[in-house]
Amino acid sequence: MRGVFEASPDAIVVIDADGRIVRANAQCSAVFGHDPDDLLGEPVEVLVPPRLREAHPARRGAFTGGGGARAMGLLQLAAVRADGTEFPAEISLAAVSHDGEPLTCATVRDVTARLALQQESDRVREELLATVSHELRTPLTSIIGYTELLLDLGESQVGPAARRMLAIVERNANRELRLVNDLLDLAFLDDREHMDAEPVDLVEVVRAAVDGARVGARGRGLELSSTLAAGVAPEGARALLVTGDEQRLGQVLDNLLSNAVKFTAPGGRVLVDCAPREGDLALSVSDTGTGMEAVEVPQIFDRLYRSPRAVRDQVPGAGLGLSIVDSIVRAHGGRIEVDSEPGVGTTVSVLLPARVEPVA
Ligand SMILES: Nc1ncnc2c1ncn2[C@@H]1O[C@H](COP(=O)(O)OP(=O)(O)OP(=O)(O)O)[C@@H](O)[C@H]1O
Ligand SMILES: [Mg+2]
Repeated sequence: MRGVFEASPDAIVVIDADGRIVRANAQCSAVFGHDPDDLLGEPVEVLVPPRLREAHPARRGAFTGGGGARAMGLLQLAAVRADGTEFPAEISLAAVSHDGEPLTCATVRDVTARLALQQESDRVREELLATVSHELRTPLTSIIGYTELLLDLGESQVGPAARRMLAIVERNANRELRLVNDLLDLAFLDDREHMDAEPVDLVEVVRAAVDGARVGARGRGLELSSTLAAGVAPEGARALLVTGDEQRLGQVLDNLLSNAVKFTAPGGRVLVDCAPREGDLALSVSDTGTGMEAVEVPQIFDRLYRSPRAVRDQVPGAGLGLSIVDSIVRAHGGRIEVDSEPGVGTTVSVLLPARVEPVA
């Protein structure tokens, strides 16, 4: 046992019920710069940065209290060396007992180097993605721009056959641009750092998204409308506020609307609603479309998932939209509910915590 204790690459300290160090292995000198023998009898707080010392005994109590056998996973905490420098540490705690005395065994690993490596690899990944996205987007934007210019030319310069072909080029280039954007989003969306945390008025988000979807809905012969919560004046005199990233929330609604429009046959209806619901704001898109079997619903948020029906009917799409929606909603601390019935329709609701305005 002693061999394991001393051979560990991590510092290990054993602490008694009063928070005093009763054992410390040799590795404590490499990790903390303390001679292990000097640590014996000291309060464990000598290893805690001074700014966190005062609160530490209470946290310690929370671990040892209630029978002392509470399991704890890995903790990411700050620790301090003998020379006063702080370092990020990964700490795992275990409750042990020796001759009936409850003790806590803390294994401490200095993760400075690992975090630095992680940051560096995140930076390289971001740089690569930024470059790749620029390189992919620039030519596509130019293809789309010139195609539009050609389509603007008169009948004498671009005949009907060429016009049909150009329209296909334009449609496919737009599709590819959307795909590039979606892939980049998936690469970045998982961390909150890339998201704003500003007050966002969902009324505005709904208006913009509904305006954007109008042409597509009309093209498919669908009726598109929105009801905003009762009490919200038409010009947004009263806002439905959440905290987040307006552009990303717009993207959520764009994706839900694009699905509703795609999966609803001509003559159907698509309705957007936004209303408070138990401390949350519920943003929902309902359609009278194909609907889904209950077993299918949990899968629709998986990357690249498309229902066999969507594939068979060649409904355009890559199966990325809802996984992007899911990442954005999670990053906002929200959740998604799906209510769908085959042949009847689908309602997808996004619940976001309502913003609580600080009292002036
Ligand atoms: N409103 C809906 N009605 C019926 N099925 C839906 C609806 N929304 C999503 N689905 C099902 O969930 C699948 C995944 O949706 P998702 O938005 O992720 O992908 P997509 O729309 O197929 O492609 P993309 O969004 O990448 O263009 C769809 O292919 C479809 O089978
Ligand atoms: Mg979609």
